[in-house]
Amino acid sequence: MPDRPLKVVVLAAGKSTRMKSATPKVLHKLAGVPVLQWVLEQAEAMGASETIVVVGHEGERVREKFGKRVNTRFVTQEPQYGTGHAVMQAREALAGFNGDVVVLCGDVPLIRPRTLELLRHMHVSEGAACTILTALLPEPRGYGRIVRDGLGRVRRIVEQRDLAPQQEDIKEINTGTYLFDCAKLLAVLDKLDTDNAQGEYYLTDTVRLLADAGNRVAACACDDHTEVMGINNRKQLAEADKLARERILDELMLEQGVSVYQPESCYIEAGCSIGRDTVIWPHSVIRAGVVIGERCEIGPFAHLRGGTKLGNDCKVGAFVETKNAVYGDGTKSGHLAYLGDVTLGSGVNIGAGTIVANYDGQAKHHTEVGDNAFIGCGTVLVAPVKVGKNAQTGANTVVPHGKDVPDDTIVVGAPARELRKKS
Ligand code: UD1
Ligand code: CA
Repeated sequence: MPDRPLKVVVLAAGKSTRMKSATPKVLHKLAGVPVLQWVLEQAEAMGASETIVVVGHEGERVREKFGKRVNTRFVTQEPQYGTGHAVMQAREALAGFNGDVVVLCGDVPLIRPRTLELLRHMHVSEGAACTILTALLPEPRGYGRIVRDGLGRVRRIVEQRDLAPQQEDIKEINTGTYLFDCAKLLAVLDKLDTDNAQGEYYLTDTVRLLADAGNRVAACACDDHTEVMGINNRKQLAEADKLARERILDELMLEQGVSVYQPESCYIEAGCSIGRDTVIWPHSVIRAGVVIGERCEIGPFAHLRGGTKLGNDCKVGAFVETKNAVYGDGTKSGHLAYLGDVTLGSGVNIGAGTIVANYDGQAKHHTEVGDNAFIGCGTVLVAPVKVGKNAQTGANTVVPHGKDVPDDTIVVGAPARELRKKS
């Protein structure tokens, strides 16, 4: 990687009108993770010394969510007068910086680190003042188009709404991702105007200003156009979500040694860790950050929610929902259960129909089940409660909160009464 110093500016202030949402676009989730987090991870992978996030519409919510990230500064754009105006808000953060600036769109989350590395290499090797990440799209409608001169040199970017009829056919589009020489960017920012169809300060006009002043502007084409799709509406959010999850599935199957049957029916979010030789049956949902050990069996129709951590050789079978659930090795919950806020030891058997009543209407409570305990079918465990090691509950037992079941003891009934010690 070239070692010129680097800062990143992320544009995330837009009103997201086309999302028709009270929530800012960048906080909508893609494979369980906010769109902006995907973009901030791109910035992190580039090794920037600082990332400046321009927020505006519902900016407080964005700051609240990401305010604690290291090397990340937030600046406010209020009101929002366009992408060029957004970068102007980062001027103070960029003043005097002797290096390059990457501009990323907060709504273009799927660019791979390798693509950004190529962009950076081209920028250096071409000695460019600006290098645009572009793509050739069969359906370029909606994107800004790259206009070249007779010698093939990039001259300007024209937005969809400003296109002349003969420019409609240009398939080479602006992905909204650029690398600028910082000093050159700052010099042309002040020259932007609002003389266009949307009456906004377009960042894209910096390309014309730089080229007209005799600077080299390069274009680096991304050959996988699924990487550069922008999320402007809910349909594109769903498309990007699908692409993100396909990547996650590929990684699990090709790199991690996980079998996924009928993968298109499974919904596996980002940031999960799944051990080798685990098998995932159709229609399973595995939420962000879930950890699953080796040789586990998941589904069909399992729902593993946040905070679920399974050891090795575990089972979460059909119509079992888990949340904040820790399973020791060899613990099995085969069918029809809700297990929320639980710690299960190793070798535990959870019978069909077991329910943990973890919520009393006000607060969530914790349940603990010791090693090798056997929870009978239809048991209700009313949290907070503990079931001891090697203990057993009969079918349809209700264990009230606070009435812990001692080790090596069988309980039955509703409410549970001690039947006998196990021999
Ligand atoms: C922009 C580009 C277009 C490119 C496309 C790629 C401009 C003028 N156009 O169009 O050439 O093909 O991205 O996806 O730059 N934003 C702000 N403040 C504002 C306006 C926008 O921070 O005042 C942010 C938005 O939150 C968004 C990004 O900038 O993350 C792009 O804005 P958007 O309105 O989506 O631009 P496009 O019309 O998609
Ligand atoms: Ca956009």
